[in-house]
Amino acid sequence: MPKKHFFSARLRVSLFLLFLLSAIMIAVNGNTITSVHNARGIPTKGLTTIELGKTYPAQYESWKATAEPTPAAKSKYKRGYDTDGILYSKIDEYPYLALLLNGWGYGAEFTEPRGHVYMIEDQVDIEPTRLKAGGSCLSCKTPYAQDLQTELGEDYFKKSYAELRDDIPAQDQLLGVTCVDCHNTDDLSLKISRGFTLGKALPQIGKQPSDLSNQDKRSLVCAQCHVTYTMPKNAQMKTTDVLFPWSGSQWGNISVENIIATIKSDPTYKEWTQSVTGFKLGFVRHPEFEFFSKDSPHWQAGLSCADCHMPSTDAADQTISDHRIMSPLKNDLTACAACHTEEPNSLREMVFAIQDNTATAMINTGYALAGVAKLFELAHHSSAAETITTTSLYQQAKEAYEQAFYRLMFIQNENSTGFHNPPEATRILNDTEKYTNTAERLLREAIITSGITIPEIVDLELDQYLYNRGNKKLNFNPNMEIVLPQTPHYPDSLSEEPHQITHPSANAALPQ
Ligand code: HEC
Ligand code: HEC
Ligand code: HEC
Ligand code: HEC
Repeated sequence: MPKKHFFSARLRVSLFLLFLLSAIMIAVNGNTITSVHNARGIPTKGLTTIELGKTYPAQYESWKATAEPTPAAKSKYKRGYDTDGILYSKIDEYPYLALLLNGWGYGAEFTEPRGHVYMIEDQVDIEPTRLKAGGSCLSCKTPYAQDLQTELGEDYFKKSYAELRDDIPAQDQLLGVTCVDCHNTDDLSLKISRGFTLGKALPQIGKQPSDLSNQDKRSLVCAQCHVTYTMPKNAQMKTTDVLFPWSGSQWGNISVENIIATIKSDPTYKEWTQSVTGFKLGFVRHPEFEFFSKDSPHWQAGLSCADCHMPSTDAADQTISDHRIMSPLKNDLTACAACHTEEPNSLREMVFAIQDNTATAMINTGYALAGVAKLFELAHHSSAAETITTTSLYQQAKEAYEQAFYRLMFIQNENSTGFHNPPEATRILNDTEKYTNTAERLLREAIITSGITIPEIVDLELDQYLYNRGNKKLNFNPNMEIVLPQTPHYPDSLSEEPHQITHPSANAALPQ
């Protein structure tokens, strides 16, 4: 049975936070605080939130409700923080990730997303190596990000996580996304509050921040955070900026190809070293906006993120946009009923069918790519390493491997398991498979022509990566693994045979 965390440390902290929030509210109401400024004259966002909550109690209450666990057993792939009390981890769901991400914090701990209230608390709790990139990690978490960046300039990016978090007013150091991130405080119209990231990226795709429709903003408020980003590094591996790798792309067509080309275009965009291969790589994180807006069926139909994640809902005597943002599946697909006439459960089955296809291809390719990574390791550790690595076969294999790796990460870290854009998921995963096969075929050839024999079975040695992870010494939890009929999976216990897969030599060509 999965370990339950009822009243776990996290939940206790959360309950405490809720208590604190109520305490502040009582203080505010009791002492009639008229000003929402702190001692330095800066309006605190926490107090501003509470003030806005007095005028818009229904939106405020639903925003606060993101602290509550979501209903269990309604989603198949996005089990974040549900009423079963389990906090799921991507490493345990997809064990090959432990191998592919070994070398930095993500390989140690990589949790599924949960409610917005928890965003900073979850950072404080996470495997400490995940915060190595520094204060810049707060860019998509604290409502103070833009203010701090304006005030500190380049130092904003250089500061450590703890240092930058200390610059946030003490009472708001656990405050995540709030009203002022998405709204102007005067008329509650929508706004982009992060000029230093999204504001700089929009003109690159031909969109002026001053020329946005309300429907654009209903997606772009989310795209402040639900996008991939790159943190360039200086010689000391300190972060120098936070940027979106969108150059070469257009509004409605930010392609995985351009994202990869951008990441590969500049050596300072390589943020980590993959242990197994020794390759310096970039990364692709949660590209929800890029994936959805790349001409998906629902984008073509004119939808925005808010259409599905913030449906109209009845609250007291009015209809509001639901600010308890979560998986539509956990909300019984009320958002979908605005257009679809299917029964919620048959619509749910349609979503599962798309996700099953995506996950099957993703897991199969994930294991295959992990096998190629082990082949690189074999080549690097062999007596002919110097010869092999100087061949053009090897160079081409490395290029194909990187192309496959970034594509896999794009789909893997996009949080809808293919739903936001099913045809694009299929296209990208087909290319991932082709590049993986090409990398393997070329690398085998490079190894064999250098006189080295390759064992028939390439053992992934997953135990080595799955157990004793990071400073927290995390271990694999087999109950979390996503097991599908046509995918390999990891044995339940250490006593069983280690996971092995064979790699038939493939002849697939590079995708055009
Ligand atoms: C300031 C950054 C930020 C903004 C703006 C933002 N999000 Fe999020 N969102 C996050 C983070 C971070 C998480 C994960 C929090 C965690 O796990 O602690 C998250 C989690 C989620 C989840 C998962 C919730 C769950 O119950 O598992 C959904 C769905 C979501 N966001 C959708 C949206 C949508 C839709 C918008 C725009 C209306 C939006 N977000 C705006 C940062 C943001
Ligand atoms: C992640 C972004 C986000 C956050 C955070 C957020 N809102 Fe909203 N809010 C929206 C979006 C999107 C809409 C829909 C606006 C539209 O369609 O024009 C909206 C609509 C509203 C409206 C208009 C009426 C309605 O319900 O559609 C009010 C009032 C409002 N929000 C208040 C708040 C308050 C108060 C907070 C903080 C407690 C808050 N919002 C936090 C994104 C956000
Ligand atoms: C047509 C409806 C639709 C639109 C539009 C849409 N989503 Fe989703 N989203 C979904 C569905 C369905 C899921 C899958 C939920 C699941 O599997 O439980 C999902 C999943 C997610 C998740 C993961 C939820 C979780 O519980 O972990 C996030 C985050 C998210 N979407 C953000 C966005 C953002 C940001 C946008 C806009 C760029 C967007 N979505 C547009 C329907 C939609
Ligand atoms: C604002 C209207 C609207 C909303 C809201 C909406 N959809 Fe759609 N949906 C469409 C349109 C339009 C299409 C494209 C129809 C077509 O071309 O066949 C579509 C297509 C789909 C398809 C693909 C059908 C197929 O196989 O071709 C699925 C699945 C789907 N929607 C599920 C959902 C789910 C789940 C939600 C809620 C999370 C949702 N939709 C919300 C309008 C909407």
